[in-house]
Amino acid sequence: MELSKKHFEACCSFFLVFFSQQVFSKTPTGLVVRGNDTDQQALLQFKAKITDDQLRVMESWNSSIHFCQWHGVTCGRKHQRVTKLELQSLKLSGSLSPHIGNMSFLRVLNLLNNSFYNQIPQSIGGLRRLETLYLTNNSISGEIPSNLSSCSKLTIVRMAGNRLTGEIPAFLGFLSKLKVLSFYNNSLRGSIPPSLGNLSSLEELALTYNALDGIIPETLGRLTNLSIFLAAANAISGTLPVAMFNLSNIRFFDIGENKIQCTLYTDLAITMPYVEFFSVRGNKISGQIPISITNASNLDVLQFNDNRLSGKVPSLEKLDKLSTLQLAVNGLGHGREDWEASKAKNFFAHINILSGTIPHSIGNLSALTIVGLDFNNLQGNIPPSIGKCQSLLELTVSYNNLSGPIPPQLLGVSSMSIILDLSSNHLTGELPVAVENLKNLGQLYVSQNRLSGLLPKTLGSCVSLEKLYLDGNLFEGPIPSSLSSLRGLEALDVSNNNLSGEIPEFLVRFGALRYLNLSFNNFEGVIPSGGIFKNASATFVEGNSKLCGGIPELHMLRCNLKTSSSNSLRLKVAIIVVTLGVTLAFTCLLILWIGKKKEKQATATSVENSVLQLSYQSIVRATDGFSTQNLVGSGSFGSVYKGVLQASGAVIAVKVLNLLNRGASRSFLAECEALKNIRHRNLVKVLTAISGVDYQGNDFKALVYEFMENGSLEDWLHPLIGMNGPETARNLNFFQRVSVAIDVAHALQYLHHHCEEPIIHCDLKPSNILLNEEIVDKLN
Ligand SMILES: *[C@@H]1O[C@H](CO)[C@@H](O)[C@H](O)[C@H]1NC(C)=O
Ligand SMILES: *[C@@H]1O[C@H](CO)[C@@H](O)[C@H](O)[C@H]1NC(C)=O
Ligand SMILES: *[C@@H]1O[C@H](CO)[C@@H](O)[C@H](O)[C@H]1NC(C)=O
Ligand SMILES: *[C@@H]1O[C@H](CO)[C@@H](O)[C@H](O)[C@H]1NC(C)=O
Ligand SMILES: *[C@@H]1O[C@H](CO)[C@@H](O)[C@H](O)[C@H]1NC(C)=O
Ligand SMILES: *[C@@H]1O[C@H](CO)[C@@H](O)[C@H](O)[C@H]1NC(C)=O
Ligand SMILES: *[C@@H]1O[C@H](CO)[C@@H](O)[C@H](O)[C@H]1NC(C)=O
Ligand SMILES: *[C@@H]1O[C@H](CO)[C@@H](O)[C@H](O)[C@H]1NC(C)=O
Ligand SMILES: *[C@@H]1O[C@H](CO)[C@@H](O)[C@H](O)[C@H]1NC(C)=O
Ligand SMILES: *[C@@H]1O[C@H](CO)[C@@H](O)[C@H](O)[C@H]1NC(C)=O
Ligand SMILES: *[C@@H]1O[C@H](CO)[C@@H](O)[C@H](O)[C@H]1NC(C)=O
Ligand SMILES: *[C@@H]1O[C@H](CO)[C@@H](O)[C@H](O)[C@H]1NC(C)=O
Repeated sequence: MELSKKHFEACCSFFLVFFSQQVFSKTPTGLVVRGNDTDQQALLQFKAKITDDQLRVMESWNSSIHFCQWHGVTCGRKHQRVTKLELQSLKLSGSLSPHIGNMSFLRVLNLLNNSFYNQIPQSIGGLRRLETLYLTNNSISGEIPSNLSSCSKLTIVRMAGNRLTGEIPAFLGFLSKLKVLSFYNNSLRGSIPPSLGNLSSLEELALTYNALDGIIPETLGRLTNLSIFLAAANAISGTLPVAMFNLSNIRFFDIGENKIQCTLYTDLAITMPYVEFFSVRGNKISGQIPISITNASNLDVLQFNDNRLSGKVPSLEKLDKLSTLQLAVNGLGHGREDWEASKAKNFFAHINILSGTIPHSIGNLSALTIVGLDFNNLQGNIPPSIGKCQSLLELTVSYNNLSGPIPPQLLGVSSMSIILDLSSNHLTGELPVAVENLKNLGQLYVSQNRLSGLLPKTLGSCVSLEKLYLDGNLFEGPIPSSLSSLRGLEALDVSNNNLSGEIPEFLVRFGALRYLNLSFNNFEGVIPSGGIFKNASATFVEGNSKLCGGIPELHMLRCNLKTSSSNSLRLKVAIIVVTLGVTLAFTCLLILWIGKKKEKQATATSVENSVLQLSYQSIVRATDGFSTQNLVGSGSFGSVYKGVLQASGAVIAVKVLNLLNRGASRSFLAECEALKNIRHRNLVKVLTAISGVDYQGNDFKALVYEFMENGSLEDWLHPLIGMNGPETARNLNFFQRVSVAIDVAHALQYLHHHCEEPIIHCDLKPSNILLNEEIVDKLN
């Protein structure tokens, strides 16, 4: 009876285990099984050193199957000797058994991305056929073993992300087949051995993040096939061999953050036609940026920052793939071209005698994402063409001598999401209203310029802002109430301007705020005492002679209660009309708006290109499921709820129409159409309208208005005593009443005479007159 192959292998393993020195060559059945017990021993020893195997991969390494079928093991077909051991990303932990050196047919050893630790055993020198050694991302320590020199077939050596110490051994220069040598992110010291210049096939040399010193050997300039050279973040000094600029196959070149001190000459040719990443940042390189860089049309990242470069920035207009341009902290500009000539002098003093402009061609670089030009001596205007860089995430030009206005085009770059820093220049004019486009921006700095005028209300649209620095300018007028939408602010500095008016109460509610500087302005009234104002070390209010109160630690004058309270009760804008209690009367004035939206699906339509695109779900969430706590009014038309939008934190009023009411649906559409075109400062702004179905499948129609913090005139004239406690009892003085009356008149005049079609309100009463603005009515 013939043995099946499977059956046979089981027997075979049995023998291997119990007669381990026995070597099988031929069996009675004629099936050829070759193999080497040494390999099995080596694998078992390797397994024995594994201390942690969360994924239990090593369980398959048992006697039930031949070791050539064990997970990660590949054998040569003829000899059944292990040729590959590949165990990458398996969460294995352990040391490397010296027995691995016995697998003499091994060509690939791949333990990438595990947690192997301790040294690489010297026995690795036994792997004479080894071509690929991947040990990247482990915790291997100790020195590079000298016996590795015996592995003359080595082509790829990747040991990045370990804890290797000692020097880079010179013998590596004799492993002439090497194409990849990566020791990125280890703790190697000493200098780069010149012998590496012998590795004529080398394509990648990665030495970044080590502790290497010495110089970059001249011999590396011979590595014509080199395409990746990374030696950043070491302590390499000396000059950069000119031949290095001549490595025509280079794609990634990074020698940043070293101590390299050399002069670049304009006529030096950077002949790297394929270069994508070129960085010499953070060295002591002087002279000019070579003009030849203008031909490196594949450049994606260009970093010359933190050096001592001077002279003109060459034209970059051919570099249309450029996404990162870092020229910050240099002395770029026209003028003195040789920094060496002035090295008695202080570096920063030196850059002050240079001049130059931001190259106009920057507008051609539409791929730019990061631009850093700080600490130069750039002069002239910011070119409006920069508005064409619609991929920008970050632009910093602080500490230059830029003048003229901030081009609105720059603020139209809505991709800007990380930082826009224009501080410490001589910029003039207003902060353009176009700032509203920067809805994704995290940090805005325009400090220390000569900007003037009012702060634009549209600044309130920059809802992602975490840091806003407007200090050291000539801004005047109040802090716009629209800034109440900047709820994510962590730092706000408006110091040293001519701002006036009261400190907005909404700052109290900014939970993330950690730094608030209002000092040296003309603010007046009472300093709030909640929120950030409770923290005297985070709040700065000095230099505002008309401010009073606040917590004692601020050392401000106590308030004269009478004046301050009547001051603070002054209503800035009283507002009117619509919403509450607007019964069917509405029908008489309102016309079609969302008519086209017939779909039985929650859709949203927005008014005046409003940011709001709201769904039924988002309204449910904003109003806490239409909870009674959020109900602020109701009538035959439906109910009005207060809501807070999750995404932006904006406070809204939602009027949900009662569709059982005959004609309500028609009225809704009419209302939308009418409201679409009306726009007046004394009319409550409709943010959007929603027409769709609710969770029960019923028609759902709602109008979303901006929320009026101060309720209706009704509430003010006939307050419900006791409901909110006496401290919030409200009172309007004569002037405020007149002001309300005038505003109502303005609104009606607008409705009657200035709308496309005259509109009659039909339901004008105190409960339909809403008051906006914070009214500081705390008399305590
Ligand atoms: C098995 O491998 C070891 C070490 O490589 C070698 O010394 C031995 O001769 C080999 N045996 C056979 C049968 O190939
Ligand atoms: C031995 O390995 C096989 C897979 O190769 C596995 O199915 C079996 O569970 C393992 N046996 C033990 C005892 O772990
Ligand atoms: C590295 O291994 C971990 C598991 O330990 C895995 O989640 C991760 O994806 C691996 N990384 C790579 C680049 O393979
Ligand atoms: C394999 O390597 C280990 C350690 O390097 C050694 O002790 C052993 O004798 C070698 N030979 C065999 C056949 O296991
Ligand atoms: C190495 O680890 C780092 C950090 O855990 C990870 O980002 C990277 O993808 C890993 N690389 C490889 C090749 O596993
Ligand atoms: C290291 O290499 C030397 C010379 O080839 C050899 O004599 C020595 O045995 C090797 N060491 C180990 C541990 O394999
Ligand atoms: C360097 O390696 C360490 C682990 O050895 C890792 O934590 C770190 O993130 C790595 N750094 C870089 C820049 O890859
Ligand atoms: C290797 O490089 C070293 C130092 O640069 C040199 O002295 C030696 O002759 C080179 N060897 C070969 C074989 O090219
Ligand atoms: C350099 O690269 C080219 C193209 O890949 C290849 O033909 C050539 O053999 C390489 N030179 C060396 C010395 O390896
Ligand atoms: C740059 O390379 C060209 C051709 O490969 C060669 O003629 C020239 O001498 C090299 N220049 C330097 C400075 O190595
Ligand atoms: C750019 O390349 C073109 C064509 O190779 C050449 O004529 C021109 O001189 C180069 N410009 C610079 C500044 O190197
Ligand atoms: C760069 O922009 C200028 C105008 O600003 C234009 O004349 C030129 O053709 C553009 N260059 C490229 C390469 O697009």
